[in-house]
Amino acid sequence: MALLSMKNICKSFFGKRANNRVCFDLMPGEIHALLGENGAGKTTLMNILYGIYSRDSGVILWKGQEVSFTSPREAIACHIGMVHQHFMLVPTLTVSQNITLGLREKGYPFPDRKALNATITEVSEKYGLEIDVNAYISSLSVGEQQRVEIIKLLYRDAELLILDEPTAMLTPQETEYFFEVLRKLRADGRSVIIITHRIPEIMSITDRVTVLRDGCNVVTEKTSDITEQELSQYMIGRQLNSIQREPIVPDAGREGLLLEDVSLKEKNIKGLDSISLQIAPGEIVGVAGVDGNGQKELVEVILGIRKQSSGKIGLDGLDMSSMSVLERKKLGIGYISDDRQQDGLVMDMNLTDNMLLKTHTEQQFIKGGLINARLVWEDTKKVVEEYAIKTPDLNTPLRNLSGGNQQKLILAREMAGDPKAIVAHQPTRGLDIGATEFVQQQLLQRRSKGCCILLISADLEEILLLSDRIAVIYKGRFMGIFPNTKDLNLSHIGLMMAGRTSEVREESL
Ligand SMILES: Nc1ncnc2c1ncn2[C@@H]1O[C@H](COP(=O)(O)OP(=O)(O)O)[C@@H](O)[C@H]1O
Ligand SMILES: [Mg+2]
Repeated sequence: MALLSMKNICKSFFGKRANNRVCFDLMPGEIHALLGENGAGKTTLMNILYGIYSRDSGVILWKGQEVSFTSPREAIACHIGMVHQHFMLVPTLTVSQNITLGLREKGYPFPDRKALNATITEVSEKYGLEIDVNAYISSLSVGEQQRVEIIKLLYRDAELLILDEPTAMLTPQETEYFFEVLRKLRADGRSVIIITHRIPEIMSITDRVTVLRDGCNVVTEKTSDITEQELSQYMIGRQLNSIQREPIVPDAGREGLLLEDVSLKEKNIKGLDSISLQIAPGEIVGVAGVDGNGQKELVEVILGIRKQSSGKIGLDGLDMSSMSVLERKKLGIGYISDDRQQDGLVMDMNLTDNMLLKTHTEQQFIKGGLINARLVWEDTKKVVEEYAIKTPDLNTPLRNLSGGNQQKLILAREMAGDPKAIVAHQPTRGLDIGATEFVQQQLLQRRSKGCCILLISADLEEILLLSDRIAVIYKGRFMGIFPNTKDLNLSHIGLMMAGRTSEVREESL
């Protein structure tokens, strides 16, 4: 008998269907993936189960009984636990305090901490979830925080663990470790629902997979009976074009983008430590690393948002070290931001005004000291057609466009005027597969036109897909730079992402 059975679940937000008669069932001791593009309705379905959202219609059976939780507390009481994509731990409390938070343990409000810790340690050791119970959450890595979230559920004796995009922030090693934990949970008879859009992971860890698209069921299948190809087709509803990287054509006349011994030392920021790198025209260098290891600072220093404390930054032989952001842009540096809502676009402005954000000082758009609105309008119209941006009209505020279409507008704007170099910071974050593919193709096109591209991404697969060389960043330092060949040692890259160089032997790279 199914442990969990969700039948014909419907849920709309402001008239938009997020779940449309979705059915989902789960066997005891099963690891079941919920796969789908961004916005497919995965989190909504699980939030409904967990009592965070109420459903419009549909039935939920848990162990054969109809249930309808109105809060996570009720779900937990029935041994269902969920770890959200964004952790919900209190950074100023210890591991132990977080795990028992909200529970009225024996002796409450002054429980016997020693006894509690012993129980927590017992749980964590059983599943290989190593953790220091007395450490403060704020001092833990993302991977460790995730362990705490899982221990928290196990401490409450969850029989079903729902994990929303659990590997998004993990290094490959942490992911492997995490999968080991999942296997132990399964061996212990517990069930896991893992929400993900990463197909290779599904193949390696799950028993079954359910695909959602646009809020509807597409397929449920045993993992062993389905291929990666089929899964990606089910997920996006069509076949993907494959990405092709042509060999680099060297351009001897140009030096490319050059960083020489660039350091950044400022109070309260992570900083950069002696970064040196040369990106040739027509080359993509990918920066791999766990978020928060200096990626943002590196981007800001190259763009001129921050001034490096020492070192030199140049483009094609010109020293830009002391140039302003605008001067660098004019020299030919394009920027694709990781946070389009924050600093890539102005959400309340329409398409034409957003296009102007970069070009407003360019002579061709200025007539008699005024902006030539007609030219700008025509330019924007051209861009909308060329990039197939879906919008009702050019006066639509950006916030009414989907993420993918917003990102297309940034691309169009930043790639106008043939930049010599592009800094692409998580350019596909939060985009669905179709839009991701579009952005990646655009970057490759620029590459073949001789653009120097710095690609910074927390998604190692994206880095591997696009980069000619890969630099690994950890705590503001490059741990190494490697050509991206097919015998690149991935586990070494992963170790370096975690700062563990001593374990990487030079000769094996
Ligand atoms: N709290 C909410 N308010 C309004 N719309 C929402 C809310 N949560 C989800 N949605 C919408 O429901 C759809 C499905 O979202 P979600 O379940 O988060 O997708 P997934 O987890 O598969 O990426 C999306 O269009 C999203 O914008
Ligand atoms: Mg989600």
